[in-house]
Amino acid sequence: MARRFPLLQVAFLGLILSLISLCSATKYTRSTKKIQLKFDQDGYFKIVQLADLHYGHFPETDEHTDKVIANILSYEQPDLAVLSGDMVSGFAWDGTVGWFEKRFRQLVKPIAAAGVPYALILGNHDDEADLSREQIVLLDTRLQQGSLTQLGPREAIGLSNYYLDIAASKGGAPAARLWMLDSGGRGCDWMYGGSGCVERPTIWWMNRTLSGLPKVPSLAFVHVPVPEFMEVWNRGSARGSKHEPVNCPMSDTGLFDALKDAGVTALHSGHDHDNNYEGLLHGVRLAYGHKTGYGSYGPPPGWGHGARVILLKAGQEAHEAETWIRLENGARVDQSKNPKFAKALQTKKMATRLGDGYCEEFPFAPTCRAELRYRLLSRISLANFLYFVGFLILLGAAAMYWQRLLKRKAKQQEHSSL
Ligand SMILES: *[C@@H]1O[C@H](CO)[C@@H](O)[C@H](O)[C@H]1NC(C)=O
Repeated sequence: MARRFPLLQVAFLGLILSLISLCSATKYTRSTKKIQLKFDQDGYFKIVQLADLHYGHFPETDEHTDKVIANILSYEQPDLAVLSGDMVSGFAWDGTVGWFEKRFRQLVKPIAAAGVPYALILGNHDDEADLSREQIVLLDTRLQQGSLTQLGPREAIGLSNYYLDIAASKGGAPAARLWMLDSGGRGCDWMYGGSGCVERPTIWWMNRTLSGLPKVPSLAFVHVPVPEFMEVWNRGSARGSKHEPVNCPMSDTGLFDALKDAGVTALHSGHDHDNNYEGLLHGVRLAYGHKTGYGSYGPPPGWGHGARVILLKAGQEAHEAETWIRLENGARVDQSKNPKFAKALQTKKMATRLGDGYCEEFPFAPTCRAELRYRLLSRISLANFLYFVGFLILLGAAAMYWQRLLKRKAKQQEHSSL
């Protein structure tokens, strides 16, 4: 009997301890007061896309990024901030536990301080440290700092797949919708190499969900650009800059077509720090953000860190929304109203190595047609043409000589048989 007593004590202590931990856990549960996104009195809704923050390299770069976020949010006073992936450079992890959470708490601080609700999707680097994709999404939804992030359904792949409705200014029925799509980590569609993508099951989930919802102007956010970002640039109608190849997946899962067919007329991406252009392709706006964070590479010298701003107007389709880049120093880069800037980019376009692994691997994919044409045409020169003609003449001469040789042989045979 005397021996059992300490056991009971231990059990009792355990019960108390677990009760305490339960109580402390409730501290992190999301408040039930739901943030409702809605158009303002004048019918506008403003989104700031914080692209590729890349916290976690050095304390100095993180502090700079804190300031960029605070400055841009105070200049723009948006209704929503979208974190389009790679918030944290997971590859800079030092191996300690709690590393990701520490960086994450730092980066949501200036957003919370500005009182701006936010929603995030994961990039390809966020889950390379001590937390999995699911743990990151759960961490964010527990943080109670204006997060609208949701854990996606199991049938979709990648865990940060969800949509957010924006109500009309008078409230009530949704007047616009944001699709937040997870493009995963590495590889796509059974292809091991290359960037991640929105996988087919996620597209099917979106398509199914979408068909059951009232049709409203819609846009989507994704971390990794789709291959069509190359096409919109190659057509020459995009506005903005391209200083690196489009790092799209090596396989095309058909996200662009699915969005187009479903009437989602804008797709905004991050991932490529040295690209910030936007353009219209088959009625859908494809737009890069602008590198916001100081960690990792980019933006190119002279650009300045900043963010893309999207101003939705009630009743307008998503691709018609006004959009511009706001820099950390307060300057506004209006890509559509700067022909000089755009002209300079045309020459830049020729200098930039076109395409990337995708079109080199699949030169005949529909989306690579413009690039293929460009590559073939760029190889046609007078010298090449003359070489080709010379080659044909030589070939013809060789054939004639061969024929004559055969004839002579036949004649000789005739003679000898006689
Ligand atoms: C989306 O759903 C529609 C029917 O609602 C269907 O016709 C279409 O093929 C689907 N698209 C994809 C990509 O699954």
